[in-house]
Amino acid sequence: MTQAFAVAQPNIALIKYWGKRDVATNLPAVDSLSVTLQSLSTRMALEFSEQADSDTLTVNGIDAPRMLGRVSKCLDNVCGTARLRAVVTSESNFPIGAGLASSASAFAALVVAANAAAGLQRDKIELARLAGQASGSAARSLFGGIVSLTVGETEIDVQQLLAPDAWPLEVVVAVTEEGAKAVASGDAMLRSARTSPFYSSWLSKQGADFALALDAVQSRNFAKLAAVAEHNCLKMHSVMWTSRPPIVYWNDATLSCMETVRALQAAGVPVFFTIDAGPQVKAVCLPEVAAEVAEALRRTAGVLRILQSPLGEGARTVDSL
Ligand code: DP6
Repeated sequence: MTQAFAVAQPNIALIKYWGKRDVATNLPAVDSLSVTLQSLSTRMALEFSEQADSDTLTVNGIDAPRMLGRVSKCLDNVCGTARLRAVVTSESNFPIGAGLASSASAFAALVVAANAAAGLQRDKIELARLAGQASGSAARSLFGGIVSLTVGETEIDVQQLLAPDAWPLEVVVAVTEEGAKAVASGDAMLRSARTSPFYSSWLSKQGADFALALDAVQSRNFAKLAAVAEHNCLKMHSVMWTSRPPIVYWNDATLSCMETVRALQAAGVPVFFTIDAGPQVKAVCLPEVAAEVAEALRRTAGVLRILQSPLGEGARTVDSL
């Protein structure tokens, strides 16, 4: 087969990846833990073509040369440099490059499509490692539900901790800006490592946060997961803010959404927030309060729209785009 189709969903980290142990192999500096979404998705068509003399990439109907270098390198890593040139078409149903993990779903879909189109039989962990070399968070989107990524000496390990329906959680995303972020997360991480006085403390405390979150997931303890996830998120942003020049992804609406979540928590609603390399706020909650959380965030000043999703499956091949 020279053509294949794949779909992958973004994942949202509850224990964050921020920092690289090795830049050349893109090995993360810290372990992370995430939830894979269901309703947001990237669909990809990939064809290895005898006719094409260079790789091409179309994203949501538009030629996307800026991302092409990373895509070509990822394809070389999956299929070898002697491969045919690839025609890649990607469609995402959510904002791209805006802190909604679009690179995670894109590279997860890419490695799955490339593996199938080239007729290779790489297994899921191999594909996760290859996706992770392209974008650290992409490794987690190979798996569904609640996922852990742990970092070894030279490579990562990625595992599904719970299947999507083993602990139904709902993620409500408050979109506060549709445009792409000013600083790419990879560049921002390197700046943090070089300049933030909090970076070494971030690294040294991550193991404890990861262990707490793992325990909370295994015992389905929502309050415990909420506490450690919010703390971990705010620590990551403290590292960003104290970098030079500072990296501040938030806007006014980001803070207003955090206040909305605080007010819901004060009223006893099981919900917590997390924020990535962008101004969007992701509220994680139990399904029975999802409508209430969505409504409260929709009414919050500066929120443009709401996306909502239960947890979903890992990246996989499909029959068509
Ligand atoms: C804040 O995976 O986008 O979303 O490996 O450089 O591509 P690269 O970084 P990327 O970083 C994700 C950062 C984060 C936290 C997370 O998803 O764990």
